[in-house]
Amino acid sequence: MASLSLAAVHLRPSDVASKLGNHQKPSILIHRKRLALSLNAACATESSSAAPEKPEIELEFIGPKPAADGSYPVDKAKAISGEKLLRNIMNENKIELYATYGKVMNCGGGGSCGTCIVEIIDGKDLLNERTDTELRYLKKKPESWRLACQTIVGNKENSGKVVVQRLPQWKK
Ligand code: FES
Repeated sequence: MASLSLAAVHLRPSDVASKLGNHQKPSILIHRKRLALSLNAACATESSSAAPEKPEIELEFIGPKPAADGSYPVDKAKAISGEKLLRNIMNENKIELYATYGKVMNCGGGGSCGTCIVEIIDGKDLLNERTDTELRYLKKKPESWRLACQTIVGNKENSGKVVVQRLPQWKK
């Protein structure tokens, strides 16, 4: 479609007008302007759709306690790979992270309270390695446990699904 329109733009109105009567010039000019506008719009659409999409990580958060029917509640979220910490994703999506003490006494993501614990049920390879802070706070905890404020979701290139158990300490 773009090549067809480009060919039309290269028509010189003086060439066309000489073959037509003078009374037709204004409509040819208006037509050229419309053509140029639609060409610009077409180019803008093509360039925006050509931009590569950033890979995404899908997240599922399983609640710690079953509902009356015995099923565990699941919250879902999505994040651009490698752009955010798990703690921030949970906060932005209003997904409960902290137990009672952590709600009021957490360090705000500074890595100095050890209360933002989650368990990675699936997709741990899509996350960063445990940081030194986590190695300190989670030394005697299962390897699948992470501190959400230290956990980067994705590495900017990978995509896939991560399943997170909220408040794993409640499930012991
Ligand atoms: S919020 Fe304090 S260690 Fe993660």
